[in-house]
Amino acid sequence: MTTTASQEAFLQAFHAERPAVTAEAFGRGRAPDGRSSYEFLCDRVAGSSRVLDLGCGDGLLLEFLARGDGRQLAGVDLSPQSPALARRRPALSGARLEEGRAQALPFADDSFDACVSHMALMLMGEIEQVAAEVARVLCPGGVLACVVGGGAVGGESYERFLGLLRRTIEEVPAERRIPALGDRRTRSRDGLDDVLGPAGFGAVSWETVPIDLSGPMEEVWAAVSGLYDLGPLDGGTVERLREAFVAEVRDMTTPEGIVPCAFMIHLVTTRLGGTLPYSPSGSKSSTK
Ligand SMILES: C[S@@+](CC[C@H](N)C(=O)[O-])C[C@H]1O[C@@H](n2cnc3c(N)ncnc32)[C@H](O)[C@@H]1O
Repeated sequence: MTTTASQEAFLQAFHAERPAVTAEAFGRGRAPDGRSSYEFLCDRVAGSSRVLDLGCGDGLLLEFLARGDGRQLAGVDLSPQSPALARRRPALSGARLEEGRAQALPFADDSFDACVSHMALMLMGEIEQVAAEVARVLCPGGVLACVVGGGAVGGESYERFLGLLRRTIEEVPAERRIPALGDRRTRSRDGLDDVLGPAGFGAVSWETVPIDLSGPMEEVWAAVSGLYDLGPLDGGTVERLREAFVAEVRDMTTPEGIVPCAFMIHLVTTRLGGTLPYSPSGSKSSTK
């Protein structure tokens, strides 16, 4: 099996069990200005009427996009369970929802004015092929807007969770560790320019925004335990990790039982063959 095939086999098996895990974990997250990471992407493609969601999961982002008048929407995902869940959303009754790979999109050339992708681009192998396919299905001047994960904020529970997880994974047999996912270049501005430039996209706009996921322990645990790395761990190991996490963050939990939790996202936007339709903004976010 090729590296990409084994990555995709892992992702399909994981999402067969947990097709809505990302939306459940991150749907309630908020940036300092009150928007969710899904809403950031909607705002980036506000003027586009034909929009594709790449790695659409259970369709939460498409549901936000469906609030725009008369939009034609489409979603594609590797996992068959994901578009099946998205089809259950009444707002998406008119959307085209497909099982498929971003490396071989089941859409005609020039089908979309914009392509969005939330926490999915950084999981994809053969990324040059993904870039070429997105360029093919976008019309000239089309917008690509993506959210990619940016790690822990620092000084809160997610950072401590990652430390515990690293130590847990070091102790489990190699066959219970997940394959390295995606292409590292999708996690940096220069790397994305290297990938997207040859496909015809302009230089990316890159903003880094903290997303707050603080809440009661059950909600925070539900968010952090949705990471792919936990997928192959057995129930006993996950339970020990949960107990260690509860103990580790006790000192930072407020008297009301709120556990501080946050992670960074990178908000990336570019345009096929042209300049961006907006200027990045927001006093609480940084533009590198
Ligand atoms: C972390 S989940 C995010 C789901 C959704 N975008 C959200 O944020 O709620 C990543 C999704 O990308 C999909 N995915 C990963 N690689 C893919 C590929 N090469 N082609 C299509 N979908 C892919 C996975 O199946 C999964 O549903």
